[in-house]
Amino acid sequence: MIGVFDSGYGGLTVFKPLAEKFPKYDFIYFGDNARTPYGSREPQEIYEFTRQAVDWLFKNGCELIILACNTASSQALRKIQHALPDKKVLGVLIPIAKKVATLEGTIGILATQATVESGAYLRELKKYGHPMSKIFQVAAPKLVPLIEAGMIYHSAMKEALRRYLDPFKKQNIKNIILGCTHYPLIKNIIQSEMPDAQIFDSPSVIPVSLENYLSRHLEIKKRIGSNGLRRYITTGDPEKFSKFAKDLLNIKIAPEKIIL
Ligand code: DGL
Repeated sequence: MIGVFDSGYGGLTVFKPLAEKFPKYDFIYFGDNARTPYGSREPQEIYEFTRQAVDWLFKNGCELIILACNTASSQALRKIQHALPDKKVLGVLIPIAKKVATLEGTIGILATQATVESGAYLRELKKYGHPMSKIFQVAAPKLVPLIEAGMIYHSAMKEALRRYLDPFKKQNIKNIILGCTHYPLIKNIIQSEMPDAQIFDSPSVIPVSLENYLSRHLEIKKRIGSNGLRRYITTGDPEKFSKFAKDLLNIKIAPEKIIL
């Protein structure tokens, strides 16, 4: 099993292309909807919640877990990897950082408050060769609630995006990372606000990066299971979960509710 973890529904944007690229692999999607959003929480809480979900996923047969949640990848991944040295837990920041770090000019990052505060994108981009002085982060706390409320095409979304993208426009930023699971759902609006920018997000990067990872880790690849199984777990309301999946991603699912 491959476990895909998110604080809620948003990680389905990453799960969907993963499941499409690897139709035979067994997957469990885990959304901690009861405790979302993580983006406005304290680091310790983000670690504890993510750790509980990760432990649940390992207990339920995962060989490998991907933290699709940028906030969890930023605030909890390194601590979890340190605490569980024999387990395989991957995040979503490094694959994007590797891809964009060598680009010229300033890179703009749009993310949750907790992701911005963690400095994790700065750290990874620097590690792969991008100068710190050419990274500009914007925290966008209004976007996740608007997306979850189904207000993608509402004027409030336009207004919020104008405000958040304005600093990118003023600096003529041409490369933007969508550092949050939900933002791919508004990628077209962001693109229309910034037609000349190249936009990078997890759904377009993570499936290829997983393929590369598995080709280097055949011992994990062998153990994943290839029966095409799909399980969807939520700590929240399964009906709301399946409605979100259907309305925004056109995925029909029957989630199971668990209590952590
Ligand atoms: N999944 C989170 C992320 O990618 C966004 C939602 C939240 O704040 O929990 O950062």
